[in-house]
Amino acid sequence: MGTKLEGKNAIVTGAGRGIGREIALALAAEGAKVVVNDVARTPDEGHELAPPDETVADIKKLGSTAIANYDDITNFATAEALVKSCVDTFGRLDILVNVAGIVRDRMIHNMTEEEWDAVLNVHLKGTFNMCRHAVGLMRSQRSGRIINTGSAAWQGSVGQANYSAAKGGITSLTRTVAREVGRYGVTCNCIVPMAATRLTLNEQVKAKFKRQFEQGEISEQVYLERINMPGPEFVPPIVTYLCTDAASGINGVVFRATGGTVGVYSEPVITRIIYKNHTRGDKWTVDELEELVPKILLPGYVNPAPPEEPKK
Ligand SMILES: NC(=O)c1ccc[n+]([C@@H]2O[C@H](COP(=O)([O-])OP(=O)(O)OC[C@H]3O[C@@H](n4cnc5c(N)ncnc54)[C@H](O)[C@@H]3O)[C@@H](O)[C@H]2O)c1
Repeated sequence: MGTKLEGKNAIVTGAGRGIGREIALALAAEGAKVVVNDVARTPDEGHELAPPDETVADIKKLGSTAIANYDDITNFATAEALVKSCVDTFGRLDILVNVAGIVRDRMIHNMTEEEWDAVLNVHLKGTFNMCRHAVGLMRSQRSGRIINTGSAAWQGSVGQANYSAAKGGITSLTRTVAREVGRYGVTCNCIVPMAATRLTLNEQVKAKFKRQFEQGEISEQVYLERINMPGPEFVPPIVTYLCTDAASGINGVVFRATGGTVGVYSEPVITRIIYKNHTRGDKWTVDELEELVPKILLPGYVNPAPPEEPKK
């Protein structure tokens, strides 16, 4: 067992399965005591224990310490109780990793209000709830690490209006929390993972990829990449590193983590501008913009979803 996180206490949400479970195990393997949170109270098919209990049992096998917690992070008061349970059990909270997640994929014209609310509640509100209750403690102890979980879907993902909006929200939330807490010695960063879990590579999804390949919607290369997605055990190292003292100066950054790849996203910056002096009352006309937007602001631009001929 490593010692990089010895003496630190962590909460990992959604740690019964998938990426959260691997992160909880990795933090524990470096000596952290972990609260393993997950709402999944009943054993998965083929397992004897409920998912969070199984993660706890596996952490104990490593010789480390963990407790299970089944609180629903979508509830503000329950999230507070979860934060409190870490302090009550282990003495303080040093690390919060927000991983819990669900999907309810549907095209926006068919999406129900319930599907929208469910996804926004778990991802965006759940992450807010946990950050909200952790930050007070971390500010007063003048140290702490928060890692949130985004998704490449924030860049735009057909059939995932709820999920992509929630993940975009988490990215912006991370950047704001980072700027609010940095002066107190606390950092808040975000990971954008990709890994084969029940969320991304279940039988239904595999059948969808196969259909897309057979209908020529995706190439063989893309099909094979998706079907052979790396496992969730490759995601944790960057999270563990961000939790160490060595990463104390890294704050508000969004990292890609999949397989052997660790990447960093660019800062959202304005890349081109056209300018008029508004203090003199100068204002763009629509005719001017019609000419200049394509020429100056968007040369080489490619519409991600151009109109197609209606099917007959
Ligand atoms: N797997 C990927 O490729 C991928 C890609 C991008 C982002 N993500 C994100 O990574 C995170 C983990 O995804 P995963 O693929 O490991 O999925 P997963 O389904 O294997 O794990 C998610 C866990 O969150 C738990 N959970 C759901 N709602 C909860 C709630 N209200 N409170 C507490 N726990 C709750 C679930 O019970 C589940 O065990 C999610 O936020 C997901 O959006 C995953």
